[in-house]
Amino acid sequence: MRQIDAAWGALAAAARGAADRRIEGLFATEPDRLERLTLEAAGLILDLSKQPWSRADVETLLDLARAADVEAARARLFAGEIVNVSEGRPALHMALRAPDGADLRAEGEPISGEVEAVRNAMRAFAEAVRSGAKRGCTGRPFRAIVHIGIGGSDLGPRLVWEALKPLDPQIELRFVANVDPAELAQALTGLDPAETLLVTVSKTFTTLETLTNAEAARAWLRAALGTASDSHLVAVSAAPDKAQAFGVPADQVFGFWDWVGGRYSVWSSVGLSCAVALGWDAFSAFHAGAWAMDRHFQSAPLPRNAPVLLALAHVFNRNGLGRPIRAVVPYAQRLRLFAPFLQQLEMESNGKRVTADGRPVAHATAASVFGDAGTNGQHAFFQLLHQGTDVVPIDILAVREGSEGDPAAQRKLLANAVAQAEALMVGRPAAETPDAHRAFPGDRPSSFILLDRLDPARLGALIALYEHKTFVEGVLWEIDSFDQWGVELGKTLATRVLAELEGGAAGAHDPSTAALIARLKS
Ligand code: F6P
Repeated sequence: MRQIDAAWGALAAAARGAADRRIEGLFATEPDRLERLTLEAAGLILDLSKQPWSRADVETLLDLARAADVEAARARLFAGEIVNVSEGRPALHMALRAPDGADLRAEGEPISGEVEAVRNAMRAFAEAVRSGAKRGCTGRPFRAIVHIGIGGSDLGPRLVWEALKPLDPQIELRFVANVDPAELAQALTGLDPAETLLVTVSKTFTTLETLTNAEAARAWLRAALGTASDSHLVAVSAAPDKAQAFGVPADQVFGFWDWVGGRYSVWSSVGLSCAVALGWDAFSAFHAGAWAMDRHFQSAPLPRNAPVLLALAHVFNRNGLGRPIRAVVPYAQRLRLFAPFLQQLEMESNGKRVTADGRPVAHATAASVFGDAGTNGQHAFFQLLHQGTDVVPIDILAVREGSEGDPAAQRKLLANAVAQAEALMVGRPAAETPDAHRAFPGDRPSSFILLDRLDPARLGALIALYEHKTFVEGVLWEIDSFDQWGVELGKTLATRVLAELEGGAAGAHDPSTAALIARLKS
């Protein structure tokens, strides 16, 4: 039997023991529990003591990590070896945030020089737009950016902007992802084409939604300003020739590389809109925070390694205790897009059913993730978290100092974050209340992540924490976390259905699909 299979067996046995005890009780039997399960990494504090694991369970999970050789996999990742096996590519998003001179390599080839060149070009562009040196075709400075992209070309930048945008920005940034024309119409409304930059972001530059929106937005510019407005076009792509063919001036096409996965790309020129709208200092600090987390992930021993322990807590719930759903609730309105971001990061990375070498997986893989900002979620789905029939582990994120506003309101927000984690774990026994409706079973696990402030560096560290957590889980499950073949079939079928909706011959479909197409055509 392989060592990893034996380690999975040990985990299953350990998890059976968790049914006979309560999380709260572990604080009494393990006096060092809080200290042992509280970590500090790159400016973030993680409290994993409200997870259902005992000291022995944590050891069992660490044995699993050792059996899976997480450290060797991590070394291969940072060395730029091919870890995305189905596409034959390294995954080197860390190189994008590494300081100048870091000399990371992809399959042995130096890449840091190219990375630094693109970074310098981004910086020069951001500074030129912000200073007014770069202006629109009528001579007016740019006051708005429309960022067009979807999936990884949207979710990261959208999260970053929402998290860090000034209350009264010099440059407004709006996002358009959906091919639903309503989103583009809303984004363009109220903008002056003479003062608007259009940044089209697509790794492949073939994505239906993005090209449709980019064409419509370019037509909006041209209708107002003529083809001179093509100087307002900017593109970010790993296929720069396609971006130029679209009409983007060559010096406004910013490249990146096939070793940057879409959902890991916010650090690359995909983040250009944020770099312009937030300023280079903020974008650079965002990089530095993520790099600090990279260094922590690379160097901290497994029992004190934040991404590793966060992954192991998830695996204990997901695999040991059979919990297929996880909630993520940031008690920070500015982080309200964190759950959608994590949905792509975790579910596109690890929602897999075969191993990297194509065998059926032996264990359940990624959980479904959902969430919203606290306290809002408390008035929506927390009923189920407290009293539903399924146990849904939760990641609670909180920010000690608010970015703005009344400190008294911030304290109320923090009180709720802390109290919810307590209520979920402690509950209210039926013995304390005569009414069964008012009893809370408790024993519901949470991870608590505290940021002193929501600044660019801590945001970078937070995103990198979850990137590496996702990687560690993929190593344990033996899957390829960096491909996404599961999104392809729907795209192919949509192309066929579109041809039919546009008058093409009817294809072969199941009766339900055929009826829907017929109804839409009638
Ligand atoms: O459909 C999924 C996906 O391929 C994501 O992985 C990617 O982030 C997104 O589409 C957008 O792709 P592109 O940047 O090539 O337009």
